[in-house]
Amino acid sequence: MKSINSVLFVCLGNICRSPLAEGVFRHVVDNAGKSGTIRIESAGTGGWHIGNLPDERSIAIAQLHGIDISNQRAQQVTLNDFLEFDLILAMDRDNLSNLEAMCPKGSHAIIALYRDYCLAEHKDVPDPYYGGTGGFEEAYQLASRCSNALMDKLAG
Ligand code: 4NP
Repeated sequence: MKSINSVLFVCLGNICRSPLAEGVFRHVVDNAGKSGTIRIESAGTGGWHIGNLPDERSIAIAQLHGIDISNQRAQQVTLNDFLEFDLILAMDRDNLSNLEAMCPKGSHAIIALYRDYCLAEHKDVPDPYYGGTGGFEEAYQLASRCSNALMDKLAG
């Protein structure tokens, strides 16, 4: 397998799901003693929240599990991301099809559905934005399972 040195996690707004995916994966990489060896970022296909902190419910659920994601700021996916990142993981199938549609020629990035790539589950991370806090706990738990599996996959 081509070695993967950079990962971009993508959702719609880059304030709920992908900041959790980024923060939890960085935590797993740090705990494996591999801090700084992989470039880890997140972005949204939409640009409404550019520059904003993660949603306060995402910050809170991460904090509950001992992870600080309050240093993150939302950004939108750019064409350059397809040239710079080795692996681009979409939280849901809408995000995936938007990414596939915008991918420029010359990109060698692997673009895949997050749960599919990490866990072989052909499922979305449900968008928790309009729901209750249960959706954020679910997004955290999925990020935790996916991050551990991704670390094993990239290390192995
Ligand atoms: P995310 O959640 O894609 O997980 O960051 C959303 C955040 C904002 C919106 C939709 C989903 N929004 O419509 O503003």
